[in-house]
Amino acid sequence: MDFPTRHLTQPLPYDPSYEVPEEGEADTIAGLTESIREIANTVDQDTGHARRGVHAKSHGLLRGELRVLPNLPPDYAQGLFSHPGGAWPVVLRLSTTPGDLLDDKVSTPRGMAIKVIGVPGARLPDGVGDVTQDFVMVNGPTFLAPTAKQFHGSLKLLATTDKAPTLKKALSTALRGVEKVVEAVGGESATLKGLGGHPETHILGETFFTAAPILYGRYMAKLSLVPVSPELLALKDQPVDLEHKPNGLRAAVVDFITEHPAEWELRVQLCTDLATMPIEDASVEWEAPWVAVARVRTEPQAGWTHGLSVLVDDGMQFNPWHCIAEHRPIGSIMRVRRAVYAASARFRAERNGAPLVEPHNLDQWREHG
Ligand code: HEM
Repeated sequence: MDFPTRHLTQPLPYDPSYEVPEEGEADTIAGLTESIREIANTVDQDTGHARRGVHAKSHGLLRGELRVLPNLPPDYAQGLFSHPGGAWPVVLRLSTTPGDLLDDKVSTPRGMAIKVIGVPGARLPDGVGDVTQDFVMVNGPTFLAPTAKQFHGSLKLLATTDKAPTLKKALSTALRGVEKVVEAVGGESATLKGLGGHPETHILGETFFTAAPILYGRYMAKLSLVPVSPELLALKDQPVDLEHKPNGLRAAVVDFITEHPAEWELRVQLCTDLATMPIEDASVEWEAPWVAVARVRTEPQAGWTHGLSVLVDDGMQFNPWHCIAEHRPIGSIMRVRRAVYAASARFRAERNGAPLVEPHNLDQWREHG
């Protein structure tokens, strides 16, 4: 299909014809749901507790506030961001990709899930009554696979659920060496990092990205969360000693968050040209400028406790489909996530006997944080 090609800076209004389902998408959804279920089931059998099929381990559970910047240009004042100065509570969950709780020495890509609570706006039919808007991000601007079908193929490589921690640590160390060589010749390998060759750096120094697009009112956008407070900025690429510290990333988060406020900018990239900024291929980095639309701020707090883990890890689900209609996810990867996330959440809720309820406020946080 030929899409409009415009080498202009004007954002391109969304049209449903831009979304082209991948061949066999229903089979991909079924296959991914099954693979994720297998991972979660293995972890449940091994540990007696069901967790997310991926991103099982949390390293920080934070409460904060998102505040929309005043005076946004009209193209950027859309959806949630059409309320100048509007402020809502947020929950932030920092994670790493595997579906089991590995020693942090097995260093993998990082996730940041944001749940904004109390957001006004029309909902999708299955979200009527909810008031949340989730942004689910990883620490790279692109997803490791262009489409859901290709991701299904590589999921088995990323799903480290076998019990061989020593081997995994050795593999991770070896891969980090290889990764340095790859970077030296001018690239970064998502696959190698996914397998455990991610640099052992402070997770709070990361910039996070949705990698896959969502609607942005009339337009299409990718979002990112960028550290801006000086103390956070100082953590960028800062090495963390993870030797004999299986939960070293979490310890580093707690050390920082108990002492310091933290502030991030939420930035948006609007699609201006589908040929160079595709919505059906999440492995392509968009070239459009990043524009700040909101700030997210946390005050000093506990950072992670067992009680918060029960509240957030077990009691909540972050899913880009928890959204207002104006921020509906789009493209192959996003469409497929809808059913797969729901199935993963149902599985752990049933196994743990812990029902998942979309929060309307953070009243319960006080008891735990
Ligand atoms: C077809 C592609 C994808 C599939 C099948 C998939 C699958 C999943 C599943 C099953 C969960 C756990 C859901 C739960 O039990 O609550 C999850 C969590 C997560 N995913 Fe994905 N994912 C995909 C793409 C992505 C992308 C593009 C990103 C970000 C750019 C991402 C980032 C995350 C993060 C950060 C979490 C943890 C959320 C939390 O803290 O609860 N995933 N994913």
